[in-house]
Amino acid sequence: MANDYDIRDNVPLIRLENIGMVYRIGDIAYEVLKGINLTIENGEFVSIMGASGSGKSTLMNILGCLDKPTSGSYFLEGKDVAGLTSDELAEIRNKKIGFVFQGFNLIQRLSIIENVMLPLYYSGLHSKNSEEMAMEALKLVDLSEKGNKFPNQISGGEQQRVAIARAVVNNAPIIMADEPTGNLDSVRGADVMNFFGKINAERGATIILVTHDRHIAGYGRRLVTVKDGMIISSDVINI
Ligand SMILES: Nc1ncnc2c1ncn2[C@@H]1O[C@H](COP(=O)(O)OP(=O)(O)OP(=O)(O)O)[C@@H](O)[C@H]1O
Ligand SMILES: [Mg+2]
Repeated sequence: MANDYDIRDNVPLIRLENIGMVYRIGDIAYEVLKGINLTIENGEFVSIMGASGSGKSTLMNILGCLDKPTSGSYFLEGKDVAGLTSDELAEIRNKKIGFVFQGFNLIQRLSIIENVMLPLYYSGLHSKNSEEMAMEALKLVDLSEKGNKFPNQISGGEQQRVAIARAVVNNAPIIMADEPTGNLDSVRGADVMNFFGKINAERGATIILVTHDRHIAGYGRRLVTVKDGMIISSDVINI
């Protein structure tokens, strides 16, 4: 719809308005997010920090359309996510968002290149070019030599780089990473972060990163701090 594109030109990529999330266990309600307001523009690299239990992953799950908030509004490219069906949400996740998790989440019985090709199957983008696209993504993380190996035959840092290749293989414009360096030593962690920087700079992907580590957060250009389910600061990172 032509109209959609007219609107998108003037709207931020992501806008959260007064987002609340309440988990209910039996009779008890836990208010985990309390009135989150956050705007993220296309091409930003945002780091989110906060203590354990402050609500970072809950927030990421909402941003990634994996979960719906219990109150407030989420506009993705100007569209209210609340009005979308679960099929439409799945399509957004498959085409627009690449996920990288702390535990890599590679499938052990598939080769590296097959792991990277998986999102192409899920998003219906699979074609005879899939292998080429996967190779391109592996090149980006300097792993083009390892395509035929299996996850247990490469190091943790390499596995996380494969996860990044998998997240970017269909040129998803948004990459979300929750503690992607949590299982890596500082050298491997820095390595992985350099690739996020490269994807942001060269592909223009918007990156949203959750980390406990202030040094890792410094790879981003804006630092959002969450405390007790609220955003308490949002500052440009000066290098
Ligand atoms: N499905 C759920 N049901 C009930 N409570 C939940 C659920 N998921 C998370 N919580 C609670 O919500 C709070 C925030 O959890 P969340 O996972 O978002 O924290 P976090 O900031 O990501 O922490 P960490 O740094 O340890 O990963 C925690 O108190 C947690 O116990
Ligand atoms: Mg978490």
